[in-house]
Amino acid sequence: MNKLQSIAPDIFGVGESDRRLALFENLFPLENGVSYNAWLIADEKTALIDTADASVAGPFFAKLEAALNGRGLDYLVVSHAEPDHGALIAEVCRRWPGVKLVGSKKALELVGQFFTLQLEDCCMEVKEGDELRLGRRSLRFIMAPMVHWPEVMFTLVQGEGILFAADAFGAFGALSGNLFSDEMDYEALCLQDARVYYANIVGKFGPQVLAALKKLDGAAPVMICPLHGPVLRGEDIALMTEKYSRWAAYRPEEAGVVLAYASMYGHTEAAVARLAALLAEKGLRGLRIYDVSKTHYSQIIAEVFRCSHLVLASPTYNMHLHNAMDALVRDMAALNVQNRDVAVIGNGSWAPAAHTLLCKALAEDMKNMRLLGEPLLIRSAMKPAQETELEALAETLAASVRALLTSLAG
Ligand code: FEO
Repeated sequence: MNKLQSIAPDIFGVGESDRRLALFENLFPLENGVSYNAWLIADEKTALIDTADASVAGPFFAKLEAALNGRGLDYLVVSHAEPDHGALIAEVCRRWPGVKLVGSKKALELVGQFFTLQLEDCCMEVKEGDELRLGRRSLRFIMAPMVHWPEVMFTLVQGEGILFAADAFGAFGALSGNLFSDEMDYEALCLQDARVYYANIVGKFGPQVLAALKKLDGAAPVMICPLHGPVLRGEDIALMTEKYSRWAAYRPEEAGVVLAYASMYGHTEAAVARLAALLAEKGLRGLRIYDVSKTHYSQIIAEVFRCSHLVLASPTYNMHLHNAMDALVRDMAALNVQNRDVAVIGNGSWAPAAHTLLCKALAEDMKNMRLLGEPLLIRSAMKPAQETELEALAETLAASVRALLTSLAG
């Protein structure tokens, strides 16, 4: 038992980190792995809050056995049935045949889809506000549909302010011994991982996230336990609640410019670099340039959630956008990115289309994306005569950022 970490008396961490995984969901590059968090509450009844990914089955079951210390398992609360948390549900049922699966109607349906189990005998469907008494502790269930998937629910430990928040408030990155956000510099070490996680995994579902946050009004959690990343505690709860309310409303965190470009031979890149230099001359700070062929779009999407202003630049390729820019723009639309000010640069040697395609995507596939100035069209390479045009675009962008800074200061 003394090998286990706990977040409160008799609530033990039984999850594990995977530092080897290269692509989360076989899609998103991970620099530093990911944690799959799960918790065992050992009261008069025992309740496991979620399982984990199949890759960490060994340490997960070793910890769970240790936490149970020879006792049986009474409940498995299924906050989220996605396999990064639910892959071990069937094995839990096999090892503890009397366990009751506690979840929303949709969660139990999804468990039935993923596994072939005799669910009739072992399911306990719960609804909004239902409570489950374990003994000294009581759990209250809060439905949070589409805080990634439709079956998702939060679980609040009554009277203690411990919130098990499913994917909400999660972050990429393996844990490094410290479980709690206030045992590290969370803002410096984890905020970007949390932003990348939110934008790519939950970002599409802003209205549903806002609805779930509203249900937490008055709950005043003192500890938020996401399924990935550190447990939030102390000032980090306010920090992340504020970030979530911005991200979910598609409001930028700050007035600033992110410049994302595709470039085949360096000419589009040169125009973007020149534009960034002009913006710097005009006093803008914190500019960030990304080559979409080098930086995965999932990282750039997080920057789009962070910043108020964007520059998108692409050559024309097969009379369409460059593939890497196309992936970024399609993902922006898929994730419901909105409320941003955007400047556009297109390049084309013989049938230029990128500038019009970027404008069309912003106008037709996304909401409230405001085009700044005229799109700059480069024919193969920017010429000195276009410097005036670029200067005008830079001034329009800078003025827009300044106006936002002024309104935020007011
Ligand atoms: Fe971490 Fe939606 O699963």
